[in-house]
Amino acid sequence: MAYTTSTDLFSLVQLGPYTLPNRIVMAPMTRNRAGEGNVPTPLNAIYYAQRATAGLIVTESSQVSPQGFGYLATPGIHSPEQIVGWQEVTDAVHSKGGRIFLQLWHCGRISHPSLQIDGALPVAPSAIAPAGNAQTYTGSQPFVTPRALELDEIPSVIDQFRQGAKNALAAGFDGVEIHGAFGYLIDQFLQDGTNQRTDSYGGSIENRARFLLEVTETVCSVWGANRVSIKLSPSNTFNDIHDSDPKATFSYAIAALNSFNLGYLHLMEPTPADIRHGGKPIPVSEFRTLYSGTLIANGGYDREKGNAAIAKGYADLISFGTLFLANPDLPERLRLNAPLNQADRNTFYGGDEKGYTDYPFLYSTTVIQ
Ligand SMILES: Cc1cc2nc3c(=O)[nH]c(=O)nc-3n(C[C@H](O)[C@H](O)[C@H](O)COP(=O)(O)O)c2cc1C
Repeated sequence: MAYTTSTDLFSLVQLGPYTLPNRIVMAPMTRNRAGEGNVPTPLNAIYYAQRATAGLIVTESSQVSPQGFGYLATPGIHSPEQIVGWQEVTDAVHSKGGRIFLQLWHCGRISHPSLQIDGALPVAPSAIAPAGNAQTYTGSQPFVTPRALELDEIPSVIDQFRQGAKNALAAGFDGVEIHGAFGYLIDQFLQDGTNQRTDSYGGSIENRARFLLEVTETVCSVWGANRVSIKLSPSNTFNDIHDSDPKATFSYAIAALNSFNLGYLHLMEPTPADIRHGGKPIPVSEFRTLYSGTLIANGGYDREKGNAAIAKGYADLISFGTLFLANPDLPERLRLNAPLNQADRNTFYGGDEKGYTDYPFLYSTTVIQ
């Protein structure tokens, strides 16, 4: 029998210290179903365990501190109870043979005083209010003007990521992904629409990338670089984020990340919404030559597009968001080119089992308990 060397979604791949059985990654997805105290629940463990056939699962964003909190019912990684809750999740995924990275998150200005300790203002690189509304305990409320971080308090914010990374290690994760995307704190430092500082963290691209690179270095010091990764969204306009020259900004950041030898870099494609909102669409393929390590592409991929991206060599793995949300056995369905469940958008954020752990498997309606 002829030996095939073709590489596709279903080929083995080495990611950091792990040999993954396929190149199909579950993208991080906030589902707002954490329990009291922002603690992961047994239901969350079932949801992730159902998806353990992914080459890799990346969890929903998990705030590294109370200050990093910005949305209701999102699971944190800063209290002992949260570590115990996440341990149940990682145990459940490991018992099904899967691998799971935690996404480390600080919302920065995408929060609200009513979500902060003692009604504090959310923090950001600069005191610029985002357009839009925060979802608070009393409903939707306009974002406020955040407080610009003082230069001498930035190390303590980086320490929040250090502690989150240590807690993730204690909770039994296989690695961590730093959330550098979608207009949250790291992205707020990187892009000049949200960073108008005049100190060593603002102004030039090198200065604006400093926070991202220092967080990365700190998290690597906890985990070892090959189990650390970062997600960036160069074309994204979500959370009122923008930059005067995203190609230059992200090219610098991506090239600078090379030196860490990270487990992977997770890059998002432009979406139709980004283009509608005036974002400059820069496809992931344009960044490939800048990055020599493992690259995961995300955004709007299906079986055909994913295989094509891998075959062309601009992505090593593909992450799937909505498709994985609705198809717990996505790798099997893609392998067989089987029909896919449709995602129910009404149950994306918050609620119970419905639209969470009740999407049917192809061959079984049994829900893993
Ligand atoms: C319900 C939902 C929640 C999401 N939450 C997060 C998140 O917590 N962190 C993150 O980096 N991306 C988040 N995303 C974005 C996804 O990771 C992914 O980038 C996006 O869905 C595009 O991939 P897709 O076209 O395969 O769905 C979320 C997407 C969805 C649909």
